[in-house]
Amino acid sequence: MSLQAPILEVDGLRKVFRGRTAVDGVSFRVAAGECFGLLGPNGAGKTTTIRMLYGFSPPTAGTVRLFGMDLGRDWRRIRARIGVCQQDNTLDPDLSVEENLLVFAGYFAIGRREAAARAAELLEFFALTPRARSRVMDLSGGMIRRLILARALVNRPDLLILDEPTTGLDPQSRHQVWDRLEKLKASGLSAILTTHYMEEAARLCDRLVIVDRGRILVEGRPGELIRKHVGRQVVEIGGPDGALREYLKEQGLPHDDLGERILLYTAGDDGRVAAVREHFCLRRCTFRDATLEDVFLRLTGRELRE
Ligand SMILES: Nc1ncnc2c1ncn2[C@@H]1O[C@H](COP(=O)(O)OP(=O)(O)OP(=O)(O)O)[C@@H](O)[C@H]1O
Ligand SMILES: [Mg+2]
Repeated sequence: MSLQAPILEVDGLRKVFRGRTAVDGVSFRVAAGECFGLLGPNGAGKTTTIRMLYGFSPPTAGTVRLFGMDLGRDWRRIRARIGVCQQDNTLDPDLSVEENLLVFAGYFAIGRREAAARAAELLEFFALTPRARSRVMDLSGGMIRRLILARALVNRPDLLILDEPTTGLDPQSRHQVWDRLEKLKASGLSAILTTHYMEEAARLCDRLVIVDRGRILVEGRPGELIRKHVGRQVVEIGGPDGALREYLKEQGLPHDDLGERILLYTAGDDGRVAAVREHFCLRRCTFRDATLEDVFLRLTGRELRE
């Protein structure tokens, strides 16, 4: 396999559950060393996609190739080269922190001495060494997440598959996980991750897709997507009046009208935006940089899912 060949190739992936389509023809590539994001509202089909990538769930249609091998045919060889963090806690509650790593290493036929060395190294890396003998049940949510990550690395994978690695964590724990993931990325590890935290995606992902109802809406680098679908800056105008609405329409300025609030998207210096600032920002107005969250909401809408 040449260096340029993608590490992961997904083509026309579909999953239908009892007549209901959860993943509806998804295709993308991940290059070696890349961190690739899968974003989308609840029920968009992220976990279903991820599960098909590591052979947990058979696709209804489509193909998955990892490291140049077919997932259906070469599952065993592929399995040895990936690390998986599922959305749910899949640790063994009856085992200690360290035992969870050692038992998992056993599945990959890693010798006991080598497994102990790797476990020690990973516990250190995830700041879990003082809790090595604790029962999983006694750990905090942040420690559990870190242990799940440590376990996914026991077989020294080439690709890490992460389904919402920081959901439910406090800001301290989340930042700690980001910091570790950035270190792993710097060491050359490839990753594919799902997240609901746009800040996480913008920080960690080189490229990402936004999916909705089982389909990819857009694909690109975070910064590119922001500039293309939102612009550079956003003006949030509280309590908008008819005159403002009229002006925005007249000038054809890109905006979203949320009733109590209008979001005005700007590409940078624009005399018309300056005019809005001057004439219509008499009350509550906020000026801020455009974010990936703006892209997400513009593309997937603001209605609740599920
Ligand atoms: N085993 C299953 N049987 C039937 N339907 C399923 C099954 N797993 C998922 N679904 C349905 O498929 C759709 C996609 O679910 P999925 O869990 O992949 O979404 P998600 O993007 O991971 O959402 P979240 O952000 O909430 O984790 C949903 O409508 C869900 O109800
Ligand atoms: Mg999910």
